[in-house]
Amino acid sequence: MSEKKIIITIDGPSGVGKGTIAKKVAEKLGFSYLDTGAMYRAVALKISNLNINFDSEKELQSILDSTEISFSEDKIFLESEDISKKIRTEDISKLASTLATKKIVREFLVNLQRKIGESGNIVVEGRDMGTYVFPGADFKFYLDANLHERAKRRYLQLKDNDKSIDLETVKKDIEKRDTQDSERKESPLHPALNAVIIDTSDMGKSEVVKEILLRIGGSFK
Ligand code: DC
Repeated sequence: MSEKKIIITIDGPSGVGKGTIAKKVAEKLGFSYLDTGAMYRAVALKISNLNINFDSEKELQSILDSTEISFSEDKIFLESEDISKKIRTEDISKLASTLATKKIVREFLVNLQRKIGESGNIVVEGRDMGTYVFPGADFKFYLDANLHERAKRRYLQLKDNDKSIDLETVKKDIEKRDTQDSERKESPLHPALNAVIIDTSDMGKSEVVKEILLRIGGSFK
């Protein structure tokens, strides 16, 4: 592999399956992988545990100043606690999307994301990776799928943890988050101008992984 520090960005809306796909692409290339949604979820978990008024910028900033997020292997840690499972609930999804509209939260996490990305040879996944966090990335992808398909994918992911969940509720929640994520002022969700857009509605995960590897294959080896 070349000396160049490659960055591959994968963005897209909730439930599209970015996580699984980004992880697989990273594994195939021997790259590391960064789930930036998990970082917004980590902040949401901290805020929900502390039960603070996050509309107060001062309070929010002081919480962020004492927040430590780190990754080890496949796990995410808040301070020293492994929170990988705790952040995968619908309540945390909703709060993460709300907190992601706040400039100070984004600034705090974007700094950390850029620091992690510095080492290169990494697949980064989120909403604004190609547009804002790594505008000079070597390869940019934007995965999309219709709302019904994304709700189905997210429902299948959640139902093992939460038996009471139903497809219609998941669909409504995703629709709400879509609106919040793409209409916010700070780094709204949209494809980068130079991103390859893949509609995955009728594609299996391995097909999407194959397509991404095909697009980048050989070009930096
Ligand atoms: O990908 P996810 O569902 O785990 O992300 C949770 C929330 O975090 C999502 O509603 C939007 C926000 N997010 C963001 O604003 N920017 C990112 N780079 C990643 C996630």
